[in-house]
Amino acid sequence: MQIKALCGALGSEIQGVNLATVDGNQMGVIRDTFHKSHVLVFPEQDLEPAAQVAFTEHFGPAEPHPLKTRATVDGFDTVLILENKPGQPGAPNDYWHSDISHSEVPPAASCLHALTIPDGHGDTMFCNMVAAYEGLSDGMKALITPLRALHSGMATYERSLQSNDARKIDPSEIKPPHAHPIVRTHPKSGKKSLFVNPHFTAGIEGMTDEESKTILDVLYAAAIQPENIYRHRWQPGDVLIWDNRSVMHYAVRDYTEDMPRKMHRTTAGGEVPA
Ligand code: OGA
Ligand code: MN
Repeated sequence: MQIKALCGALGSEIQGVNLATVDGNQMGVIRDTFHKSHVLVFPEQDLEPAAQVAFTEHFGPAEPHPLKTRATVDGFDTVLILENKPGQPGAPNDYWHSDISHSEVPPAASCLHALTIPDGHGDTMFCNMVAAYEGLSDGMKALITPLRALHSGMATYERSLQSNDARKIDPSEIKPPHAHPIVRTHPKSGKKSLFVNPHFTAGIEGMTDEESKTILDVLYAAAIQPENIYRHRWQPGDVLIWDNRSVMHYAVRDYTEDMPRKMHRTTAGGEVPA
């Protein structure tokens, strides 16, 4: 395998491995690189849904989406279809987020396999939340370390109103907001990261909206500095996996429904953030 850093912020590209037949030794190297780089890109893969599930399960059990917001591949309720095509604009993901952070046990990792890409459009950005935490002052670290933030699934409900590739969710299906520590420690790397995002984080426990917003805005601005970001330009065949515990991501919405884009997404279960 050849491994190369994608930029100074995060991300590694790994060539010379077929993910459909990856062995235990290769997985050891892949996992180590994942914990250092947070995002891995494997170009030119040809992964059938069953093989994508098997690869994902090296990072945690493959999980269906808790709100069943999207179509899935026949026979695979853990393989979500993200599709933008004429008459069916794909659901937007153009906001910084960590997948399903409103869950009690948010996913460890998400994996996208690019099938159809509008050439040069529909990039995805990733932001290093370990670097975001480490760059804060000692004073800000001390302020936020004991705090918990509330994460709400209402954002997913609101998004379901904006697209027609997603099932219409009823607001009664959305659970009350869930609190997670603002600073979490990665169970494998031991690194601390910021675990808040402007999409699902609704506020800070025990604070007014105004106080929450003031602090969260400082954290988001620190996080999304250009130096903390990798922007992935997709090629069909790419498989990309990211660590939801240590990155936020943002899908750049610079395409229209007449520019087909199709991905298969799988999600690996994680642990209660601590
Ligand atoms: C997602 C997501 C990004 C993209 O599936 O969770 O944010 O670029 N997708 O499609
Ligand atoms: Mn996402």
